[in-house]
Amino acid sequence: MDFESFSNRHRAAIDARLAGLLPGEDEAPEALHRAMRYAVLSGGKRLRPLITLALAEAVGGNIEDALDAGCAVELVHCFSLVHDDLPILDNDDLRRGIPTVHIAFDEPTALLAGDALFALAFAVVAKTGRAQAVTMLAEASGTRGMVGGQTIDVESEGRAVDLTVIEWIHRRKTGALFEAAAGLGALFGGGTEEQVLAARSYGMDLGLAFQIADDVLDETASTEALGKRSQADRGLSKATYPAAIGIAGSRRLAEEAAKRALHSLAVFPNAAAAEMLAQFAIKRSA
Ligand code: IPE
Ligand code: IPE
Ligand code: MG
Ligand code: MG
Ligand code: MG
Repeated sequence: MDFESFSNRHRAAIDARLAGLLPGEDEAPEALHRAMRYAVLSGGKRLRPLITLALAEAVGGNIEDALDAGCAVELVHCFSLVHDDLPILDNDDLRRGIPTVHIAFDEPTALLAGDALFALAFAVVAKTGRAQAVTMLAEASGTRGMVGGQTIDVESEGRAVDLTVIEWIHRRKTGALFEAAAGLGALFGGGTEEQVLAARSYGMDLGLAFQIADDVLDETASTEALGKRSQADRGLSKATYPAAIGIAGSRRLAEEAAKRALHSLAVFPNAAAAEMLAQFAIKRSA
């Protein structure tokens, strides 16, 4: 099994569910809803919901039971991208091969579309009726997760920060949502508490590996391949692995993190897809 075939098998269901969860473009305020749908439905790898489904499968559960949780994580992710691209943060004009939301619409609409996506994510996960799931997503998103990581990411621009701080940033800004994606998959797949913990540990290491690979790709891949501006981190003097230890060292640490993720899968009866996703996180070209 490769990423292509796993993604082909599940992507249509993920996209259809996301499209159904989002407000319609003919409902007021129309521009806000167009921006929300634009932010979510115009591409992306859907890696986080695919991880959720893979971990539901890994514990021997039904993939369909984890679909809404995976979509909730994707909604938080899309919200984080809309705000990450704003001029006050990374100031990017291209995402998923098309203009970013604040370029295609305007900055107030992008800010508010992000806010609304974040709220929608929690409405979706709350409807599952499982407080543990809501808590998992909230902790992954907030100050001890994505938002906390983004804060130190921005504060570290132009500063010489050591690898310990960069790892801290990457675990939070990216690892935390991967941790939730995997943990929610094990939870909704009917896994034991021990399996949920192992899934979370897999997700965190996978997210770290994924963000190191993102830093490397920012340096080494083209804008066309990435669908977002390459060499953008260099332009902002971001605290990245390549800036701290070079490309070869970064690739080595990404591989080590992916290996730790693979080790966490030992407690699962059916982890082939989860294994494949750990490989994909570091081998991908975009
Ligand atoms: C981009 O994530 C932001 C990072 C955490 C590096 P993805 O590379 O998963 O973005 P999409 O969803 O495929 O566009
Ligand atoms: C983004 O990290 C992590 C988020 C929480 C959005 P980056 O700033 O490196 O992501 P890209 O490269 O813009 O996708
Ligand atoms: Mg950023
Ligand atoms: Mg960015
Ligand atoms: Mg990046």
